[in-house]
Amino acid sequence: MAVERSFVMVKPDGVQRGLVGEIISRLERRGLKLVAARFMAVSRELAEKHYEVHRGKPFFEGLIRFITSGPVMAMVWEGPNAIEVIRSTMGTTNPVQAGPGTIRGDLAVDIGRNLVHGSDGPDTAEKEIALWFRPEDIVEYGRAADPWVVERP
Ligand SMILES: Nc1ncnc2c1ncn2[C@@H]1O[C@H](COP(=O)(O)OP(=O)(O)OP(=O)(O)O)[C@@H](O)[C@H]1O
Ligand SMILES: [Mg+2]
Repeated sequence: MAVERSFVMVKPDGVQRGLVGEIISRLERRGLKLVAARFMAVSRELAEKHYEVHRGKPFFEGLIRFITSGPVMAMVWEGPNAIEVIRSTMGTTNPVQAGPGTIRGDLAVDIGRNLVHGSDGPDTAEKEIALWFRPEDIVEYGRAADPWVVERP
């Protein structure tokens, strides 16, 4: 079981709807560990770099406008298989198909307002963490409850 880090962002809709705490709380309750956080406005340049793979797609312009439309909560979360664990906690990209119990399945209805971003693989996670954070922004620490979350942390 690999300990991974994932870049997670509460998007502007999550901030505007007062769901930052709810989303953080779901990741905390899952057992994941917060290791970096930054509440911030997103420049067009940063947004375009983050969503570079979607450049040219019909939704790209709307996506960039949306993600720069208000502050976001940018974070790094750590844990065993964190990337997949976070993706499944978020639910599918389109909230219409997202299962109940997931963030998007419980709290969202529209693909263009799906509340949260999470890295989709180890390479993307590494790239996104480096794009949004400096290495010294990542805090390494242990938690007393870690052995109650993971058999062999
Ligand atoms: N067909 C679409 N119409 C409108 N918006 C879309 C569409 N497909 C994707 N998006 C938007 O672009 C974002 C990035 O799409 P992607 O395929 O990377 O999904 P994701 O990995 O689940 O989401 P994210 O990268 O934001 O975590 C989606 O979260 C969504 O907000
Ligand atoms: Mg994605």
